[in-house]
Amino acid sequence: MVSYGLIIFCIITLSINSILCYVPEPRINHNSLIIHNRLLVFGGWKIDESANVSYSEMFYLDLTKPFDSKTKPWILVEGGYLPVYISLSTAIVSTLDYDIIYLIGGYRRNITTDKNDNSDLVYMYNYSTTRWTSQKVENATPRQAIMGVINNEGTIYMFGGSNSTTVYNDMQIFKVSTMDWSKLNIIYNLPLPCFAYTANILTNRIIVYIGGTDKEGQYLSMKTIRLFDTLKSEWAQMNVIGGDDITPRSYHSSVLTTDGYIILYGGLGLDETTDPKLAILDTNKEIYEWTIPALSGSSPHLYGHTANLYGNYMIVTFGYDGDISNMSSQIYLFDVSNYTWVTTFNPSPPITTEPTETNVTTKSALRIGLGVAGGVVLIILVSIGVIVFRRYGTKPHTPILKISGTK
Ligand SMILES: *[C@@H]1O[C@H](CO)[C@@H](O)[C@H](O)[C@H]1NC(C)=O
Ligand SMILES: *[C@@H]1O[C@H](CO)[C@@H](O)[C@H](O)[C@H]1NC(C)=O
Ligand SMILES: *[C@@H]1O[C@H](CO)[C@@H](O)[C@H](O)[C@H]1NC(C)=O
Ligand SMILES: *[C@@H]1O[C@H](CO)[C@@H](O)[C@H](O)[C@H]1NC(C)=O
Ligand SMILES: *[C@@H]1O[C@H](CO)[C@@H](O)[C@H](O)[C@H]1NC(C)=O
Ligand SMILES: *[C@@H]1O[C@H](CO)[C@@H](O)[C@H](O)[C@H]1NC(C)=O
Ligand SMILES: *[C@@H]1O[C@H](CO)[C@@H](O)[C@H](O)[C@H]1NC(C)=O
Repeated sequence: MVSYGLIIFCIITLSINSILCYVPEPRINHNSLIIHNRLLVFGGWKIDESANVSYSEMFYLDLTKPFDSKTKPWILVEGGYLPVYISLSTAIVSTLDYDIIYLIGGYRRNITTDKNDNSDLVYMYNYSTTRWTSQKVENATPRQAIMGVINNEGTIYMFGGSNSTTVYNDMQIFKVSTMDWSKLNIIYNLPLPCFAYTANILTNRIIVYIGGTDKEGQYLSMKTIRLFDTLKSEWAQMNVIGGDDITPRSYHSSVLTTDGYIILYGGLGLDETTDPKLAILDTNKEIYEWTIPALSGSSPHLYGHTANLYGNYMIVTFGYDGDISNMSSQIYLFDVSNYTWVTTFNPSPPITTEPTETNVTTKSALRIGLGVAGGVVLIILVSIGVIVFRRYGTKPHTPILKISGTK
């Protein structure tokens, strides 16, 4: 049930900004990325006893405005529907054109037939046109539960993953400038085949692979970090000694801070637990080191969620919440500057907004769970919203109003 606060938030925002909030269903194994100061989410599915539901819509958080994580001010991208149902894929913003997203691999189901469909392995999204198009890429290989990373020259590196029956340890690369897909021929120091790991590329061009599941279904040790040097096309393995103990996991998330710390969060481990939920890998040390920071605030046991870093905030969305044994549709905010879970997002310092207007319309479905004569109810609610706004408009620390009060 949608909270009253959310309804009021949407209505007030509507009356001021002509924006209607979108209320997405909970989901796991979706994609999220940051493009043009928006946290964009798409794909994923909801596991249900009676039926597994997949999703094709796209929606975003506007990161140029403050918000309270509880209000979840999602906005639907009109026309941005995916051409396939997709989960456990990798989605990447091109470093050669910040308008372009590549969506690769994953479990794909035809939207019409709801059957597995790997006919198109690479999709491209153009932010300007809000349209997905399938790309014909020779040699493209279907893989699931992969995480790709892109370097500054526009080469996407995709390690291992699974295809339902086999788990791999090869390195596939996709050059977005030429649309060339190939497999690197590497024989030394190959890591174990694995999937559901995370990957982050450091400024020294080394990709750091953490966690995941091997072909026997075992979780890989967090003390064995796999490193891929993209300059030399070489694998290395680093045994992290000392530091804190981190239990093995997969379907976790990791984000890299600008000063070289990887923040690991959540995941599925033995007996469905992970301890700790959050840990920091210091990649500035010669031998990396895990530490468990003293945290302020709390967060649930999540897996199959995503995390993205924007300014000082790690923004965690959706996933499976082990604490309530159910899918989540929450947003969690972690302030990486002081390791604090917070509920308010404040863009700071001022982030320049995009100069170009886009075709992403903000008008969208407001699903307020009041399925009655829409127009009349809406007008009444707008009036209530305006009244509430007027009545409480002077209270400085009501988060809902703080959000709506911004330009
Ligand atoms: C939903 O997906 C899960 C995991 O793949 C599977 O075990 C389950 O049988 C599926 N449920 C239905 C109703 O298809
Ligand atoms: C889905 O299946 C239908 C019917 O087989 C087909 O016409 C359509 O091209 C498929 N869609 C995609 C995106 O492959
Ligand atoms: C994306 O769309 C814009 C506007 O139509 C167009 O100018 C641009 O060339 C497109 N980019 C790609 C890579 O197709
Ligand atoms: C996975 O790959 C193996 C080896 O290439 C192949 O035999 C198998 O059929 C593939 N499985 C699926 C589900 O595509
Ligand atoms: C899980 O959450 C959904 C709403 O997202 C709710 O309808 C369902 O009853 C919940 N299931 C359990 C077991 O709590
Ligand atoms: C962490 O920093 C944020 C601002 O960056 C501040 O609002 C918050 O109060 C700080 N939390 C603690 C526990 O210091
Ligand atoms: C919207 O898209 C159309 C084509 O799809 C394009 O001609 C137009 O310039 C776009 N408008 C903006 C403001 O980007």
